[in-house]
Amino acid sequence: MNTSDSNEQLKIVIVGHVDHGKSTFVGRLFHDTGSLPEGKLEQLQRIAERRGVPFEWANLMDALQSERDQNITIDTAQIWFQTRKRQYVIIDAPGHKEFLKNMITGAANAEAALLLIDAHEGVQENSRRHGYLLNLLGIRQIAVLVNKMDLEQFGEERFRAVEAEYRAWLKTIEVEPLVFIPIAAKHGDNIATRSSQMPWYQGPTVVEVLDQFKVAEPPSNQPLRFPIQEVYRFDERRILAGRVESGRIKVGDRLVFSPTNKTSVVKTIERWNAPSRDSAEAGESIGITLTEQIFVERGAVAALETSPPYELSKFKARLFWLGRNPFRKSRRYKLKLATQEVEVEIDSIDRVLDASTLDTINRPDEDAYVGRHEVAELTLKTKRPVAFDAITEIVPTGRFVIVDGYDVSGGGIIVADQYPRRTVGGEVRSENIFWSQGKITHAHRSRRNGHPGCVVWLTGLSGSGKSTIAQDLERELFNLGKHAFVLDGDNIRHGLCSDLAFSPHDRKENIRRVGEVAKLFAEAGFICITAFISPYREDRDYVRRMFDEGRFVEVYVNAPVEVCEQRDVKGLYAKARSNQIREFTGVSAPYEPPLSPELELHTDQATITESVTRIIEHLHVAESDSAITI
Ligand code: ADX
Repeated sequence: MNTSDSNEQLKIVIVGHVDHGKSTFVGRLFHDTGSLPEGKLEQLQRIAERRGVPFEWANLMDALQSERDQNITIDTAQIWFQTRKRQYVIIDAPGHKEFLKNMITGAANAEAALLLIDAHEGVQENSRRHGYLLNLLGIRQIAVLVNKMDLEQFGEERFRAVEAEYRAWLKTIEVEPLVFIPIAAKHGDNIATRSSQMPWYQGPTVVEVLDQFKVAEPPSNQPLRFPIQEVYRFDERRILAGRVESGRIKVGDRLVFSPTNKTSVVKTIERWNAPSRDSAEAGESIGITLTEQIFVERGAVAALETSPPYELSKFKARLFWLGRNPFRKSRRYKLKLATQEVEVEIDSIDRVLDASTLDTINRPDEDAYVGRHEVAELTLKTKRPVAFDAITEIVPTGRFVIVDGYDVSGGGIIVADQYPRRTVGGEVRSENIFWSQGKITHAHRSRRNGHPGCVVWLTGLSGSGKSTIAQDLERELFNLGKHAFVLDGDNIRHGLCSDLAFSPHDRKENIRRVGEVAKLFAEAGFICITAFISPYREDRDYVRRMFDEGRFVEVYVNAPVEVCEQRDVKGLYAKARSNQIREFTGVSAPYEPPLSPELELHTDQATITESVTRIIEHLHVAESDSAITI
């Protein structure tokens, strides 16, 4: 058998109709990656021969599965195969119902999906349902395999037609596959080796695309979430006990506790039957003491001040209902999320589906409920705010259960939306922040604009060329039909930030405000170009964290300070040298260059046009409308 070079494991789900060749594909995938037990293939071929029937790849899967069930050769509960890069676990379930139930309740967790569709049959109701299933679960890493290309004489035209139709449909449910691959599972075309029958296809093979999928970050690399299970009192001391669900915690960290929003610093970290150490990470059960006693009780969630959870009493969820009695509107239930328990009710139901068939169930509004074994997209309303994250951000605080009376009757995941975060560092902290659900999403705006909103953050010394580049870039984008808008240091400091000077503290606040404004612009669908010195790395990184991956494009406008000083367009360097201006960046105040900006432009060597072109290339807006993926 083949062996992988690492211990890395990726959990995938293969979605597709049996008739679309799912079993054949899986059998072939195992064989072509060298993942079959020694002699298995030959054994089945012999059996087929003896019976006088043709050997079918699909039989292989059935055989492996039944052996797995009897625990003979495959000892894990799941089927796995491997490539040279890593191991793969196929999350399998007898039907949609079981799969959905396992995924929503957390029993299984697929991080990527292969979606099979039949080239001959084309896009059918079933293929649509499968796409929807992935959308429902928020699986974003998807490759679509257009199978049975052999029945279509390996023709490119047919493949492109199926791709275009399916892609267009998936777009309506906001699913964007990484790639479409033409395959013939029966013959192994484009599975592990490139097909000689389809030279017109230049993209990756199935194995190549599998190896490109990303494994989720280990929980310890995510933001800290430490839900408090119990508070123990020993004389004056309080020990807050719980399990670190994600991230890391160390002595000296300043924690903020939801829902009170009180903060305090970690004094010690205690362990049971183990010497105390200065830090702990996801998965460990610990107790902590704080330097300053504040009121904390079971259900509080501790986080670092820089990355707190959402804290709201309304959120969007997907729910799987198991209860004997339906989940009804206007009735009260209990929601449990981490160690929090709070009264909850349905705010609105957007859609209910039969979990087995994925058929939409239409019920009149006055009779809105979610029945046993149904799946719903809905909004929940809690009696008081709960601390949570979206499932795509942090899993343990993105999952909940619903208790009806004494029974756990439903499991759910919280889906991402534009929930407001309490930003730390803001002067005013309101206790009453609400999330108003926008009807128009970022995806809608992106589709209309032909590009998503983002920020192009220019940073560099005064005189390095930020404003000039910003203005030229804005004009170029405008001419390309894009929505772009410049926020410039000198202008913003006349208005929004006219109360701020140039101390590190004031600059931090300046950048925080600009970051918030840029985020609003990006949410409104604009490519927001900012031109601020923004000399401190920490301040820039703070803004970066406000954006989803890929939406914050940091551009280091790099010109040596001597060059900037020579240019001295505003005569400020001269003033700084003669001490007429204090804390001038590059002269009497520091500039911390970005460590890994998305782009670095050397404006002493390149022309403005060249620099602007590089940014446009990076944004991929010029070539095609849909090139920036959402
Ligand atoms: S930042 O450091 O907070 O990002 P910002 O980009 O808004 O600065 O403002 C910089 C502009 O303010 C410079 O282009 C310059 O015209 C002006 N300025 C006035 N005083 C200073 C100073 N001490 N340091 C830097 N820029 C200054």
